[in-house]
Amino acid sequence: MALDYDDKLRLTEGSGMWHTAATATGPASIHLADGPHGLRAQSEDIKQNNESVIATCFPTASAIAASFSEDAAACVGAGIAAEALLEEVSVVLGPGVNIKRSPLCGRNFEYYSEDPCLAGTLGAAFVKAVQNAGVGTSVKHFAGNNQETHRMTANSEIDERALREIYLAAFEQIVKEASPATIMASYNRINGTYACENHHLLTDILRKEWGFTGAVISDWGACLNLPSALAAGMDLEMPDGSALHLPTLHKALDEGSLSMEHVDNSNNHIINLVETYGPKAGKSQTGPGKTAVLNNNNGAARELASKTAVLLRNEGDVLPLRKGTKVIIIGELARKMRYQGGGSSHIHIVREPDFTRVMSMRSYPYIYARGYDSCRMGVNKKLLREALSIVRHNDDPILFFGGLTEWAEGEGYDRTSFDMPAAQLALLSELKEEIRKKPVERRNVVVFLSFGGAPYDLSPASYADAILHMYPAGQAMDDALSDLLFGSVSPSGRLPETWPKRLEDTPCYETYATGSDDVEYRESIFMGYRYYDTYNIEVQYPFGYGLSYSKFRCEDLKLSAPSYDGDGDFTVSFTVRNEGPMDADHVVCLYVRNPEDHFLRAKKELRAFKRVSLKASESTEVTLTLSARSFSIYDVITQNFVIPNGTYTIEIGSAYNDIALSATLPVNGVSYLVDDRIRYGEYFLPRHDYMESQPSVFHISSEQFAKLCGQPLSHLNDLKPGEFDTCCSVNQLARYTFSARILRSLVKIGIRFRLPHVKKQDPQYRMYLDSSLDGTLDSLMKNGGPSISRFAKYVLKRANRK
Ligand code: BGC
Repeated sequence: MALDYDDKLRLTEGSGMWHTAATATGPASIHLADGPHGLRAQSEDIKQNNESVIATCFPTASAIAASFSEDAAACVGAGIAAEALLEEVSVVLGPGVNIKRSPLCGRNFEYYSEDPCLAGTLGAAFVKAVQNAGVGTSVKHFAGNNQETHRMTANSEIDERALREIYLAAFEQIVKEASPATIMASYNRINGTYACENHHLLTDILRKEWGFTGAVISDWGACLNLPSALAAGMDLEMPDGSALHLPTLHKALDEGSLSMEHVDNSNNHIINLVETYGPKAGKSQTGPGKTAVLNNNNGAARELASKTAVLLRNEGDVLPLRKGTKVIIIGELARKMRYQGGGSSHIHIVREPDFTRVMSMRSYPYIYARGYDSCRMGVNKKLLREALSIVRHNDDPILFFGGLTEWAEGEGYDRTSFDMPAAQLALLSELKEEIRKKPVERRNVVVFLSFGGAPYDLSPASYADAILHMYPAGQAMDDALSDLLFGSVSPSGRLPETWPKRLEDTPCYETYATGSDDVEYRESIFMGYRYYDTYNIEVQYPFGYGLSYSKFRCEDLKLSAPSYDGDGDFTVSFTVRNEGPMDADHVVCLYVRNPEDHFLRAKKELRAFKRVSLKASESTEVTLTLSARSFSIYDVITQNFVIPNGTYTIEIGSAYNDIALSATLPVNGVSYLVDDRIRYGEYFLPRHDYMESQPSVFHISSEQFAKLCGQPLSHLNDLKPGEFDTCCSVNQLARYTFSARILRSLVKIGIRFRLPHVKKQDPQYRMYLDSSLDGTLDSLMKNGGPSISRFAKYVLKRANRK
């Protein structure tokens, strides 16, 4: 394709919000749309985040991860692709495979897990399913984008081992197994350089090492310097640069600071993308119509949702309830269910899920008490009293709907607390008293139905007889929940992340979202269960945990050879038997326990998993495959993955601390004689204070971490007047100049005009606000129109004391 000079340049930027450029001499324009658990296709004239085509909201990534099922991830992918084809969307912006570093991340519901093997395997299944249907994907957010606080300016400082073994591993697996059409470069910096301008990440690692041949696109507004992004290996700035960035490209080419070869490379990747997934790529338009697709997808969403629920407790087998048992439903989350999160993944669906509707449809008797206002954190005394009075006079089982409300989790902002909302805490505590006052034989059974995309403190609900957790599980989670509670389906989800007891126990407690742009990942490879297990930290619930209405046994473990030399695949087989009363699914995890050594290494790591469906009394043989990588660490000296020699243990179970089968396996690798105990001594300290029963916070000093990184940390937070540029945020500049504080007020007024009927606590409002004030000036100038853009330039001058 022979593009003229201007079209070549034009093709490096999007057109409007959702399209690639339409040029006279270049490829056709294609439509890109969110997102990870449903289609959020918008036409260019729509200005509000939540207005998009009607689509199916599937279980979010956090929920699909709890299914531990590649088929489930593929089913979501195929369903979204079917809708994308109908809307002529060529690229779906998902999956999101960032590691859930802290329970507080506002976007945790959009991500799979704390574990890269789980995230990578499910992400690859999703990508293959979408792309097999002829629609491209965008694996996001590449990379180290693990918090929403200062998401556009944060500088994720990650040592090379943690980067390779934890934060890049899922991306690597997906690139190698599923060849995604595009990768989305994230907003943040990694070790000092913005992802979009990070040559090491985009070219050395992604293209040269992993062999990625697709296109790299920027997250929306993440490209701050188009010439340097193209030089680093980014191909497409999204959305369009509003005439701010194209002139810089012309200039860089004229001055010779960027060669045309970079533009040509980027053009080729976009042309290839359009030819493979664009409108003329020979897609069939003769499939079923939208109504049929939506109906079909609703059925799939319901079945999937029922596979994602995690039964955390079931004392005295109070669940399942007999069909038609009268229940007291308490909590507004029963009607306003947490089925998705706020932000760019928000799906416009036909009907919001409502558990009470399902109960009525099924003619199951219930009394409903709202209990609290889910849009407020504080207690509503009237609602609280109403709920208590119902319980005082009725002894039926209580279904308490609690957990993280819609306001709590969303894109653009992080949670600030590990607790459930105060109103729920008060209600739970008074409810406990109310029940305790009754004679024993009249005391209600309590089932706590927990909702949320990430862990929180469940201890206030610990008096409940049963606890069932559902991650935001999509539009059909009301039906699915009823199927689960009344025993049509057994819960089979497993936690895709560890639920710590306290926020202070999380390995990144001291460094997560501190307010500084510089975010030191001092916990290094000790993320999630890798930390809790290795340092013997007690948790609420471990990674992989989940109960069933049935009972399973694993037996007869066989290894394909008595030892492994790192060459080719190695298989592990065993039998899984359903010994319980009910047909049910079961999840088995294979952990490799590493030999004890003197270098930093987690005790064990998930290396394979499988979900099986078994009728009562049925059994099946499961075979899981390992490879050299299953025993490897990243060696920063040789810059390669290597297998340290030693005797490893193959462990089969679900939760990491509940192993059913194990066998030792000598593995011949390299003599890795590194001794980290002196150099990185802080990582070897015990985690318990001698005087206290609680484990101490995981404290690694900045100096120790810098040593681990092998180079000085790229601290970028200490800019002074004279050093500010368009990469700074309004909030940052507001500390230095009054004009920035005026700009802040103008932005707030602008957002109010844009979203006149949206409440201030609404995730949509919060996302706009936080992205505009904590985002870069560059992004504000592109989105805010000419007057804001001019004023922002003035603010910058003032802040720089000019
Ligand atoms: C989000 C991406 C999303 C994009 C387009 C960004 O703010 O980070 O995940 O795909 O917007 O909506």
